[in-house]
Amino acid sequence: MKRLLSIFSLRNLYYYAILSTIMLHMVCLANSRLHPIILVPGSGGNQLEARLTSEYKASSLICKTYPGPLHKDKDGWYRIWFDPSVLLVPYTKCFAERMTLYYDPVTDDYYNAPGVQTRVPHFGSTHSLLYLDPTLKLISGYMAPLVESLEEIGYIDSKTLFGAPYDFRYGLAPEGHSCHIGSKYLQQLKDLIENASVVNGGKPVIIISHSLGGLYVHQLLLRTTTSWRMKFIKHFIALSTPWGGTVQEMLTFASGYTLGVPLVKPLLVREEQRSSESNLWLMPSPTLFGHVKPLVITPNANYTAKDIPRFLTDIGFSEGVHPYKTRVLPMVEKLTAPEVPVTCIIGSGIHTPETLFYDAKGFDKQPSIIWGDGDGTVNLLSLLAVQSQWINQPLRIINVKGLSHTSVLSDQRSLYQVLKLVSDINTDNLELNTSFLEEIS
Ligand SMILES: *[C@@H]1O[C@H](CO)[C@@H](O)[C@H](O)[C@H]1NC(C)=O
Ligand SMILES: *[C@@H]1O[C@H](CO)[C@@H](O)[C@H](O)[C@H]1NC(C)=O
Ligand SMILES: *[C@@H]1O[C@H](CO)[C@@H](O)[C@H](O)[C@H]1NC(C)=O
Repeated sequence: MKRLLSIFSLRNLYYYAILSTIMLHMVCLANSRLHPIILVPGSGGNQLEARLTSEYKASSLICKTYPGPLHKDKDGWYRIWFDPSVLLVPYTKCFAERMTLYYDPVTDDYYNAPGVQTRVPHFGSTHSLLYLDPTLKLISGYMAPLVESLEEIGYIDSKTLFGAPYDFRYGLAPEGHSCHIGSKYLQQLKDLIENASVVNGGKPVIIISHSLGGLYVHQLLLRTTTSWRMKFIKHFIALSTPWGGTVQEMLTFASGYTLGVPLVKPLLVREEQRSSESNLWLMPSPTLFGHVKPLVITPNANYTAKDIPRFLTDIGFSEGVHPYKTRVLPMVEKLTAPEVPVTCIIGSGIHTPETLFYDAKGFDKQPSIIWGDGDGTVNLLSLLAVQSQWINQPLRIINVKGLSHTSVLSDQRSLYQVLKLVSDINTDNLELNTSFLEEIS
């Protein structure tokens, strides 16, 4: 009996030893098995903080006292994006004037409004892109469902999973132009990629971008060497990227656009939206949309994507012509292949502005719209633009029918595709094909 017991416990010990070795192995595997992921949000896809200095000149008494001291930290910082009070008319105005950028033709760069400082909280972590307003999780969720799904398969914030939020009002410019905010962000993003790889045993990273974030990542990749990309980039997953801009951007510039929020008057935010460097970047590309099809039709003139300088002048925003011609056009004229494996996940089958009709009342009135195919925001033509361009490199496009521009971040069908892709990459089961289009309904 005694002997039996000791054999039994010895066996237990033996099993225990094996089990703990396996478990230890699994923990190590869990850490070393995963390629680190960097998340790059879209326009408006992360929190932004502001602080007003003595230089700030409020346009009204309300703006002078908004937001109250309870909404600011001890150094005067408050969350300017997103806060639901901006939906109320008097505050919308304060918000818009503080978010407005200025292009200075002398220094050839964009700047904040005088007296307004801004900063992006939590760079490196996913913290500021889960919810736009962390006190209103229910209505302001952004990348939370995607991050939670990645955490379920073992990713850990700031260890294997990183966020690269940025000041989405700013854009990038071709080399040779001054671009102090955008260039600094590209450098930070590059450093984050290198750091993420280093702390994960030298594994190259997977980048997952949404919308405008994809254009930033694309530009970063074009500005790195082949050996850097081989060393640090495993895969680029681009969700809903507007590769060639959108017709909707012309609507935004002409008449203001409120993301479907009925409380906000479009003209209240139009000036701020026109001032945004990244919005100008999203104008429909002439290479893609061409010089034949009018995108905007008015009683006096029609505008194709080649006529954007004339369009900007006619809508009353001639300040935009110079930066558009010298900074935006050279960047969007050619869609150069990034030479890393790319998977695009896009939505389609949703009414998306294709042609805008203005009557004699002019651009201050919202236009009638002819709808075309796309994800509700980005035209299908733009979502698919890389297909005919990146033919000599691994490229896969997954087109999910009925998926909108932002539901790509929460819909079970797209999340499944992202998780499957990430798992296949991590287990080395991904077949890399050139130009492969898959449609899912
Ligand atoms: C990268 O790591 C270095 C050294 O630890 C650190 O100083 C730097 O802030 C990190 N940069 C980013 C963008 O994570
Ligand atoms: C604008 O385009 C419409 C439709 O293509 C055409 O009927 C109209 O004549 C054009 N107007 C001008 C001013 O070119
Ligand atoms: C790659 O292409 C082959 C045929 O050319 C196809 O059978 C396979 O399913 C494709 N793989 C992927 C992941 O798309």
